[in-house]
Amino acid sequence: MKVLLRDNSYDIIFASLSEIRNYIDIPAKTKILILSSPKIAKLYYPKLIASFKKDCHTFLYNLPPGEKTKTLTSVEKVYTFLIQNNFSRNDLIIALGGGVIGDLAGFIAATYLRGINYLQAPTTLLAQVDSAVAGKTGVNHPLGKNLIGACYQPRLVLIDKTTLSTLPQTELRSGLAEVIKYALIKDHRFFKQLEDDLTISNKMIAKCCLLKARIVQKDEKENNLRIILNFGHTIAHMLEAYTGYKRFFHGEAVALGMLAAAYISMKRNQLSAQDYQRIKKLITRANLPVKIDFKINFQRAKKIMLHDKKVKTNKLHFVLLRRIGDTSIANDIPWELVQDSLQNLK
Ligand SMILES: NC(=O)c1ccc[n+]([C@@H]2O[C@H](COP(=O)([O-])OP(=O)(O)OC[C@H]3O[C@@H](n4cnc5c(N)ncnc54)[C@H](O)[C@@H]3O)[C@@H](O)[C@H]2O)c1
Ligand SMILES: [Zn+2]
Repeated sequence: MKVLLRDNSYDIIFASLSEIRNYIDIPAKTKILILSSPKIAKLYYPKLIASFKKDCHTFLYNLPPGEKTKTLTSVEKVYTFLIQNNFSRNDLIIALGGGVIGDLAGFIAATYLRGINYLQAPTTLLAQVDSAVAGKTGVNHPLGKNLIGACYQPRLVLIDKTTLSTLPQTELRSGLAEVIKYALIKDHRFFKQLEDDLTISNKMIAKCCLLKARIVQKDEKENNLRIILNFGHTIAHMLEAYTGYKRFFHGEAVALGMLAAAYISMKRNQLSAQDYQRIKKLITRANLPVKIDFKINFQRAKKIMLHDKKVKTNKLHFVLLRRIGDTSIANDIPWELVQDSLQNLK
């Protein structure tokens, strides 16, 4: 399956990693750096490079797994490797991994020699439906996540769904939260399909890629449309920060955040109680949490939320639902209502 992103310079291809050579046009002797981490490389590097073996020079650079790797220190190490191996602007970087490897590889590609070609081969559901699409790349700074970055498009995104077979269930569920998010913000029909069948398929992933790409492309014309991608993330970011990024997988925090935002939408008489229940039911069916199983100190939660970089005044900014598949933006949510929505997660 091929998903062509109109007005955009690259394709999203659904194919086996071993076929990647068929989809890119590179001259013989091109140097290719595959950026990955040990576990993923062990599983998929041989398959990925099989078709390049005859005429290209492939190099593997492994970084430790996890968010702590997404730093300028890692970036500098990879620059050194590229320079020592004489990589030129005509050579290529391939990201083989989840969002961490993808964001890092994209940032390195954007900045090394002011831009070198790169491809994304995402191996987590989250990366396939979210981070590999739309060209946001970057790394963390000790003072905050994703603060350093660049917009830089890959030449190609190749999605091999079979890589998800080795992904831990918790990571899969985490990606599913983002899948549900796309349906909630933009596509009622897609939501209904998920209610019928939550099995991960190429069709499901492609739908998410298209929805994200459409939102991002339209954003260039309609300012701030992109903000709806933050649905559920206002409270999710607070919960992640509140628990020191240790207690929740991102998708779990997003599931709780989406439910809280749906609750606020209902209390503002936008979303029907029936739709709220449908949302809760689907999140439960995806084995994502609908309850917070620890005591929240509301004062601490409030402090974190008011310091979030997305908050401009003391009023809280939220993406809400008008109904399933349609959003509205509110800049005037009082803290009491947010607290009420958190209380409801008990
Ligand atoms: N650029 C964007 O637009 C964007 C959007 C959303 C998220 N992100 C970023 O994405 C990152 C999170 O990405 P993620 O959820 O993919 O996490 P991740 O990259 O940390 O991967 C999760 C874990 O799964 C392992 N793994 C990956 N693929 C595997 C496979 N096929 N089999 C077995 N194990 C595998 C990884 O080694 C890691 O331990 C965050 O840094 C976030 O900021 C970026
Ligand atoms: Zn997210």
